[in-house]
Amino acid sequence: MQTALDQYGVVGHPVGHSLSPFIHGMFARDSGQNISYRLYDVAPGEFHARVREFFAQGGRGLNVTLPHKIAAVDVAHELTPRAAHAAAVNTLAARAEGILGDNTDGAGLVRDLCDNLGLVIAQRRVLVIGAGGATRGILGPLLGLAPELVVIANRTPQRAKALAKAFTDLGAVQGVGFAQLEAAPFDLIVNATSASLAGDLPPFPPAVVGPQTVCYDLAYGKSATAFLEWATRQGCARALQGWGMLVEQAAESFRLWRGVRPATAHVLAALKERGGSA
Ligand code: ATR
Repeated sequence: MQTALDQYGVVGHPVGHSLSPFIHGMFARDSGQNISYRLYDVAPGEFHARVREFFAQGGRGLNVTLPHKIAAVDVAHELTPRAAHAAAVNTLAARAEGILGDNTDGAGLVRDLCDNLGLVIAQRRVLVIGAGGATRGILGPLLGLAPELVVIANRTPQRAKALAKAFTDLGAVQGVGFAQLEAAPFDLIVNATSASLAGDLPPFPPAVVGPQTVCYDLAYGKSATAFLEWATRQGCARALQGWGMLVEQAAESFRLWRGVRPATAHVLAALKERGGSA
């Protein structure tokens, strides 16, 4: 007798471009698990109802992508501490007690930085550009690596200051506007704005990049982002797109759902080769 497959998927709007089915399909095959993983295009007004229906019908887990990461906080019955701190959820999982909300974005970034790229963040100076939902997701895990300082620089300085305040219990973090940014090189710069995708470059001083600076854009795509092109022109040590974070955050979600952490190296290689759009 054939048993029904465990149901998973990604919910977003739009969601047709998502690489998650490809990634989770590879994880499932590699770990010998037979699951179903589908795309759910859900408009914001229907998000809560559709998610509740998915789980009521026996669905096991969802990835949550734009624009629903904040709304997913309220649909969860329980949050992991990292999701609560980020006030944003990218993974929902069925539990006996109800729907669990987690945020694996920061853990995914940290795993890419430390394990895949071999970077050391402890005692280093880190600049995060942007103070939106993407920054919220990564700040806690980044501060967990004990950097000397994390500076958040944002077009709207108030948002950077408010975010820094919300995370001071986890480490040394400051929020500033671009104009107040100290013109000295950082060890790591993470671009977490949506500006780069639109081809815009936030106005920050070139002196934040030195020959030792690693520049990482959370965005990924077929060609280098505006931020990475700029960083390369300034002579940065490395200019990296967010492919690794994409795969590693997915692996964390898969582990939460299935109890096994899938191998990621060949999935990352396959994705880069496939060169999917962001
Ligand atoms: P997300 O959830 O993707 O982070 P968001 O919450 O809308 O989206 O945040 C987008 C971030 O990109 C913000 O930091 C935003 O700056 P503001 O807070 O000043 O709006 C930043 N951003 C978007 N477009 C930008 C641009 N053209 N120049 C500089 N920053 C930009």
